[in-house]
Amino acid sequence: MGRGMMLMLLASLMVGMVMAEDPYVYYTWNVTYGTLSPLGVPQQVILINGEFPGPQINCSSNNNIVVNVFNKLDEPVLFTWSGIQQRKNSWMDGTLGAQCPILPGTNYTYRFQVKDQIGTFFYYPTTSMHRAVGGYGMIRVFSRLLIPVPYPDPEDEYNVLIGDWYTKKQETLKALLDSGKSIGRPAGVLINGKSAKGDGSDEPLFTMKAGKTYKYRICNAGTKNSLNFRIQGHVMKLVEMEGSHTVQNTYNSLDVHVGQCMTVLVTADQEPKDYYLVASTRFTQTVLTGKGIVRYENGKGPASPEIPEAPTGIAWSINQFRSFRWNLTASAARPNPQGSYKYGQINITRTIRLDAARGKAQGKLRYGLNGISHVDSETPLKLAEYYGVADRVFKYDTMSDVPPATLATLNVVPNVVNVTFRTFVEIIIENRDTSMQSYNLDGYAFFLVATEPGQWNPEKRKNYNLLDAVSRHTVQVFPNCWAAILLTFDNAGMWNFRSELAENHYLGQQMYFSVLSPNRSLRDEYNLMNTTQICGIVKDLPTPPPYSS
Ligand SMILES: *[C@@H]1O[C@H](CO)[C@@H](O)[C@H](O)[C@H]1NC(C)=O
Ligand SMILES: *[C@@H]1O[C@H](CO)[C@@H](O)[C@H](O)[C@H]1NC(C)=O
Ligand SMILES: *[C@@H]1O[C@H](CO)[C@@H](O)[C@H](O)[C@H]1NC(C)=O
Ligand SMILES: *[C@@H]1O[C@H](CO)[C@@H](O)[C@H](O)[C@H]1NC(C)=O
Ligand SMILES: *[C@@H]1O[C@H](CO)[C@@H](O)[C@H](O)[C@H]1NC(C)=O
Ligand SMILES: *[C@@H]1O[C@H](CO)[C@@H](O)[C@H](O)[C@H]1NC(C)=O
Ligand SMILES: *[C@@H]1O[C@H](CO)[C@@H](O)[C@H](O)[C@H]1NC(C)=O
Ligand SMILES: *[C@@H]1O[C@H](CO)[C@@H](O)[C@H](O)[C@H]1NC(C)=O
Repeated sequence: MGRGMMLMLLASLMVGMVMAEDPYVYYTWNVTYGTLSPLGVPQQVILINGEFPGPQINCSSNNNIVVNVFNKLDEPVLFTWSGIQQRKNSWMDGTLGAQCPILPGTNYTYRFQVKDQIGTFFYYPTTSMHRAVGGYGMIRVFSRLLIPVPYPDPEDEYNVLIGDWYTKKQETLKALLDSGKSIGRPAGVLINGKSAKGDGSDEPLFTMKAGKTYKYRICNAGTKNSLNFRIQGHVMKLVEMEGSHTVQNTYNSLDVHVGQCMTVLVTADQEPKDYYLVASTRFTQTVLTGKGIVRYENGKGPASPEIPEAPTGIAWSINQFRSFRWNLTASAARPNPQGSYKYGQINITRTIRLDAARGKAQGKLRYGLNGISHVDSETPLKLAEYYGVADRVFKYDTMSDVPPATLATLNVVPNVVNVTFRTFVEIIIENRDTSMQSYNLDGYAFFLVATEPGQWNPEKRKNYNLLDAVSRHTVQVFPNCWAAILLTFDNAGMWNFRSELAENHYLGQQMYFSVLSPNRSLRDEYNLMNTTQICGIVKDLPTPPPYSS
């Protein structure tokens, strides 16, 4: 390659963090506090452009998304785009380990590409306890026009953001956690920020024409509880889950754990009247139920007050999980084609066993992973690493790959694990607690190959689904059960693995995987951008030499 061409290529790579040929989608967000009464009691919530849930992000595979966020709260904020893989770009991931927070009264513009992905996702704030009081919204990623979708175009599409809900203020929730107490049980369950009263005064959330089929995009954006979702009198055909087309089984109800999204088709094939959408808490002593109404166009009559019953027990949910399969023949954009189909034949190079439990530090309630309770540092981990001053901010590999013998006392430090670029890793998560857990990994999709009762041992690998496990980004772990995921760490960056439960996350049940490009190569990771916010100890340091091709 001639020097001129080399320079041209270099220039195009440097400018081209977002590729010019792909369309842009722009949003401007005003993030404010506001007062709403989702459960009948006025309370402070987080609004985006005056809305709760926030406005949807609507795009197609490979679109470039630009979101200019104006922080009008009184606290720093960051948003994460859960499930959007941010290839080579942890700079925009929206966690405190990856970027500096957006300070009150300032704005910051997120720029990222939804590379080779389709499906239903949602965004939410990762800072403080913000997520418990709103700030979340749907992300729809459509297939590009020429790529076939394995089902006919629906008549319309509806967003269904379900979640448990507290009536306490954000500061109150935070103060409880800071003082070493739990935030306790939620007060109710919301569907799109509301809860139907069932007294005949409720406006429908959606309408359907008799005989037509609709797409419902369902995400559990809540704080603590797994929810069972169902539509009175109707069945749901599962077509997509967290970015993967699934085998299209039909369900009466679906367990959606915190942080998870599922896309279903629903045909309006019943008597034309109103029906309830129902979301109710699972694995809780007191069952909380949220309702909403779907109305048939020209339908007559209210929804029946008889709410379809929810399943009980863990076994039901484990069996339902086993029925989720990836449709291997459906064509779709896949971010990681190597290792996609034949993941069962790749040799595991490392096994990380995580014991996830609650514990104490200095007498206060904390949550952790293998005895480490993560705490954010003022300097984002990614920046400290990029500027070559990681040793002044955190230690790599404080956490061991195997759980310690005793978990009672947790070590409160930044939890960063060094993973070698492009290695194929098995992660086992063991839940020895009595409550449900749910985790999310940023930057990747992984194969959730098994979740079973009891304790994991290498013999259990015989039970893994090594053929058609769904490629996804969240994993639920039932009480006294384990779950196993497999993935190739081929996306360089500083990636957050976190409990999706807001309380656990706030109290340290999270960690980061540092995946470094061995040659500081632009093929593996984008450079620090000139728009990247710089904070903490790197603020006055000279910018390091950029990555090269
Ligand atoms: C940032 O980088 C872009 C692309 O390299 C360049 O066009 C722009 O002028 C730079 N902005 C600043 C403020 O340096
Ligand atoms: C955001 O707030 C500013 C100032 O109040 C206003 O001018 C602007 O129209 C708002 N933008 C949106 C998208 O709501
Ligand atoms: C959403 O995006 C899709 C594809 O990019 C487009 O066809 C559709 O019109 C958009 N819908 C809305 C409501 O913006
Ligand atoms: C803040 O918003 C203005 C437009 O109102 C924009 O020109 C500027 O680039 C934004 N700043 C950042 C840091 O994104
Ligand atoms: C998988 O996708 C293919 C191709 O679009 C479709 O024909 C088939 O019905 C799907 N299979 C299942 C079991 O859903
Ligand atoms: C996987 O490991 C087996 C046994 O150690 C070895 O024979 C095989 O060649 C390896 N496969 C790959 C793809 O590296
Ligand atoms: C991470 O692990 C790799 C491979 O074992 C090693 O070469 C590298 O020095 C480690 N990096 C750090 C920062 O510890
Ligand atoms: C890093 O660069 C060296 C020398 O150019 C090359 O041999 C090696 O394959 C590169 N490694 C990776 C992982 O790209």
